[in-house]
Amino acid sequence: MDAKNFISVRGASLNPSAIREIFKYSGDPSFISFAGGYPDPDVFPTAKLKEIMSEALDKYGRQALQYSSTEGVKELRNYLVKFMTEHEGVRNVGEENILITTASQQSLFLIGLVLIDPGDVVLIEAPTYLGALTAFNPFNPEYVSVPTDDEGIIPEKLEEIIADLKAKGKRIKFLYVIPTFQNPAGYTLSLERRKKLVEIAKREDILIVEDDPYSYLVYEGERPPCIKSFDDDDRVIYISTFSKTFVPGFRLGWVVAHKDIVRRIVIAKQGADLCSGAFMQYVTYLYMEKGYFFEHMNKIREIYKVKHAAMMNALEKYMSDIPGVHWSKPKGGFFVWLVLPEHIDSDKLFEKAIERKVVYVKGSAFFVGGQGKNTIRLNFSQPKPEDIDKGIKLLAEVIKESL
Ligand SMILES: Cc1ncc(COP(=O)(O)O)c(C=O)c1O
Repeated sequence: MDAKNFISVRGASLNPSAIREIFKYSGDPSFISFAGGYPDPDVFPTAKLKEIMSEALDKYGRQALQYSSTEGVKELRNYLVKFMTEHEGVRNVGEENILITTASQQSLFLIGLVLIDPGDVVLIEAPTYLGALTAFNPFNPEYVSVPTDDEGIIPEKLEEIIADLKAKGKRIKFLYVIPTFQNPAGYTLSLERRKKLVEIAKREDILIVEDDPYSYLVYEGERPPCIKSFDDDDRVIYISTFSKTFVPGFRLGWVVAHKDIVRRIVIAKQGADLCSGAFMQYVTYLYMEKGYFFEHMNKIREIYKVKHAAMMNALEKYMSDIPGVHWSKPKGGFFVWLVLPEHIDSDKLFEKAIERKVVYVKGSAFFVGGQGKNTIRLNFSQPKPEDIDKGIKLLAEVIKESL
């Protein structure tokens, strides 16, 4: 049997992730890995989970082990309505605006499914989250990258790009943006720019998809308000996840959007998985309701703060004397973006780093047009502080040898 003959055109057009190769090294304990984007498993609240899992069974057993509604269990949805209103400052959120998903990756996929027609323009940051491209790709959008600087998307550039696309008769569906502690670049969109993006979206009649997995993981300064909090027109589709702040193994996230968009996503989700796991939703609801979430946030912020400091110190210590090398200064999240001199190709450098048992993700993976050859994404949430120091020292040596 030749399986190839049975694969659809769409199925055959799906490409494996450009960074899949890396995971064979990042899972090997003899390597220092800056490659992943996972939380540190040492921070998982296992003891609390043991306690509330049995409480969830006692209290909600019959519903919790049953199929649930596609929109998500009522208790968690209602909690999130309150959460989005009180903690995020989002206006006019009702139950009809919220949907629980099988984490953000599913939210992105379903958003792609219900919004993108082939050839529609999706505006993205350059660089952007690779997984979003994987989620949108099956729907054949035309990606157009918007230039960014240390404060994220440059609104003037966005306006120029929109004008140009409209002059060419293109249909722009949405701008996809990770405004806080961005993956991969680590920067945070300034407050002014957040307001400006909403203004532009309204004027130009496009949507914004705001992806916000990291904003609670703030190590310096204040947590900025989400873009959605400036939206008085239901134009921003906000997505977040419990993966980075709680546990990714539950695979739970949520979407806040215009009720008609939520409705469409719900119908699409029925085809995808009927519903996200009810038991995990009840456990998460109890976890939030009891205030454990905020307690946990305070605790893990302290742990990640140490790793963040270890990364920033190591970069300063070992890289500041390398000409042409600079890096982002994230105030939270999991990632730092390292820029090398133009002539150094981080893909080629990778082989040398592997020999020294250090692994990272090449930056070009986060662009659609093959840019960013001289860039690297560094994760600091997983390695231990002492390994961060050791690994950055080794990486600096590899870079110096390539100058
Ligand atoms: C920006 C961004 N969006 C979405 C996701 C997907 O996360 P999950 O599906 O675990 O919620 C990630 C995970 O790394 C991410 O960095």
